[in-house]
Amino acid sequence: MYKITSRSERETIELAQNIESEKFPNMVICLEGDLGSGKTVFTKGFASSLGIEETITSPTFNIIKEYPNKEMDLYHMDVYRLDDKKDDLGIEEYFTRGGVTIIEWADMIKDILPEERLEIRFKILDDEENTRVLIITPFGKKYEDLCEAVL
Ligand SMILES: Nc1ncnc2c1ncn2[C@@H]1O[C@H](COP(=O)(O)OP(=O)(O)OP(=O)(O)O)[C@@H](O)[C@H]1O
Ligand SMILES: [Mg+2]
Repeated sequence: MYKITSRSERETIELAQNIESEKFPNMVICLEGDLGSGKTVFTKGFASSLGIEETITSPTFNIIKEYPNKEMDLYHMDVYRLDDKKDDLGIEEYFTRGGVTIIEWADMIKDILPEERLEIRFKILDDEENTRVLIITPFGKKYEDLCEAVL
């Protein structure tokens, strides 16, 4: 478990870019934590580093947005409003399609997350507007190695 302090949107983007530099096929990144804490900012940083030029929007109502991309595809999910659609969307199929999956509010679908994954929990500090505490936990050897390399 790693505890990282981000003091600006830019620092969260830089962290995402560092993690992107160690990406591998079928990577799954689970983002959890407070509303407005930086989960989408992280995803945008990761996507731009991947070379995706399309604007990343929050897929709140569609749940899943796919970004086909030359280097590696990105599947961006926001499962906050998933309710009973979970079984229809085939979320698990994305985990083995060769791209990177980033899931906002991943703790809402704990039962279908892969065993091996990177978890990042965002916390807002009440007294410092632009500061976020990020608790990063790797599950599995690949993710442990990734954390050692970039954190
Ligand atoms: N250190 C920081 N890291 C990331 N974002 C920050 C930071 N400090 C301030 N911000 C601001 O916080 C907001 C984060 O918004 P964002 O949409 O990424 O949150 P979110 O976690 O995706 O929210 P939601 O749960 O609604 O999806 C942005 O307006 C961003 O500019
Ligand atoms: Mg978001």
